[in-house]
Amino acid sequence: MLLEADKPLSNSLIWDIQRTYFESAGMQAWQDDVVPHTISCNPFMARAYANLIKAYLHDMAGQIDPEEPIYIVELGAGSGRLTHHLIHKLGIFGDEAVQFKFVLTDFADSIIENWRSNPQLTQLVEYGVLDFAKFDVMNMGPLQLINSGETLSPDSTKNPVILLANYFFDSIPQDSFVIKNGELQANLLSLYSPQHESQLSDPTIWERLSLAYEPLPFDPNTYKNDLYNQILLDYEAYFEDWSDTGLSFPNIGLDCINYWMGFGAGLLLSADRGFSNIDSMIGEGDPLPNLHGSFSMMVNYHAITEFVERSGGRAFVPSHYQDNLQTVAYAFQMQERTLKATELAFEQTIIQNSPDDFFGMRYHLLKQIPEMSIDQLVSFLRWSAGDADVVRVALDVLPKLVEADPAWTGDVVNLLTEAKAQYLAIREDDDLIGRIEKFIA
Ligand SMILES: C[S@@+](CC[C@H](N)C(=O)[O-])C[C@H]1O[C@@H](n2cnc3c(N)ncnc32)[C@H](O)[C@@H]1O
Repeated sequence: MLLEADKPLSNSLIWDIQRTYFESAGMQAWQDDVVPHTISCNPFMARAYANLIKAYLHDMAGQIDPEEPIYIVELGAGSGRLTHHLIHKLGIFGDEAVQFKFVLTDFADSIIENWRSNPQLTQLVEYGVLDFAKFDVMNMGPLQLINSGETLSPDSTKNPVILLANYFFDSIPQDSFVIKNGELQANLLSLYSPQHESQLSDPTIWERLSLAYEPLPFDPNTYKNDLYNQILLDYEAYFEDWSDTGLSFPNIGLDCINYWMGFGAGLLLSADRGFSNIDSMIGEGDPLPNLHGSFSMMVNYHAITEFVERSGGRAFVPSHYQDNLQTVAYAFQMQERTLKATELAFEQTIIQNSPDDFFGMRYHLLKQIPEMSIDQLVSFLRWSAGDADVVRVALDVLPKLVEADPAWTGDVVNLLTEAKAQYLAIREDDDLIGRIEKFIA
């Protein structure tokens, strides 16, 4: 049975299924480890972001009003763990120089309700560093901060806004195009199921759905924002000799970035699976949902980079292939301005000591922990910036190792104390903090 025919991918019913999933699963999506987030919300990533933010604020020093807060807004924050880590990595407690205000946002009310009932988060709200707001990329407008009652709009913010968007652009609607015989075509989606589908929340729906794409001639006025059309037409020229190359196009992501560009100068930090270099898209097929409770699709960061640069911004993108996830930084409204400190921080934290490399090695090293000597394990804990999975496995072997060589006690206690402070428990039966406390005692 045909459910819908020849729709631009971003208008497809599959995104309604996505919304229904996040709304109904709420925090359960992360509590039950259904939607992956270890790679996007860990302390290593937060440490890199903290260094980038500090460097950017250093570069922007002349443009910052110290009497006004710097808002750090996480889009599609889900578990809230990235921001929680970042609050600790930025070392904001007792630092009077810059007044940070962190805002966790999501479109799903059920997720926001969960944040409001998490005692670790409400404590940060009481300290005045954290707030929550609804932000739906399909219905964008000023943020109404739930706790302070303030409104965050282009008129109300005096300082650059910092945006975090990890595993976000892969979860919001995007379009699809394809190069066929040297020509750019819109890749329209038809959806089929053996039955009528009235329950989009039915978890078995994906077992029945089949997706079929059909290329149709590209209309050069497809998008109201002509920059989008131009970027696509440039792909046609670039991929002339590469037939059957599929191009995902983050039109809703670009609308979102465009919205935030309206706030003036700002920094967007983002990590996702996708393509940051144009040649990595050669030979790509039709975009298919990668299912994990919700679903994700590869992000065309190359198009985002083009959009940001053509809009007068600055893109920081590693030139090397990032296997697990792309991590990028975009500074809006950067014409005529040098960003030397940001450049250096990006080189050091995202290129030379990248979250992507760390994640690849972490997977391997986690398995080696039982064989590690105390010095190796302490190095791994420190390098991981207090990664919860590393700490969890380390706690199995640390008592014996420290007992055999007590000189390490001080360093181990310091590392575990830091890991405990930055860890956000999202399940009531989570025992990590209790295990750390028991070890330290
Ligand atoms: C894959 S999760 C990523 C969560 C978190 N950033 C992370 O790295 O684990 C995608 C997030 O985007 C949110 N989201 C989905 N559609 C959205 C929309 N239209 N507007 C804003 N957020 C949305 C979801 O609720 C979810 O929290």
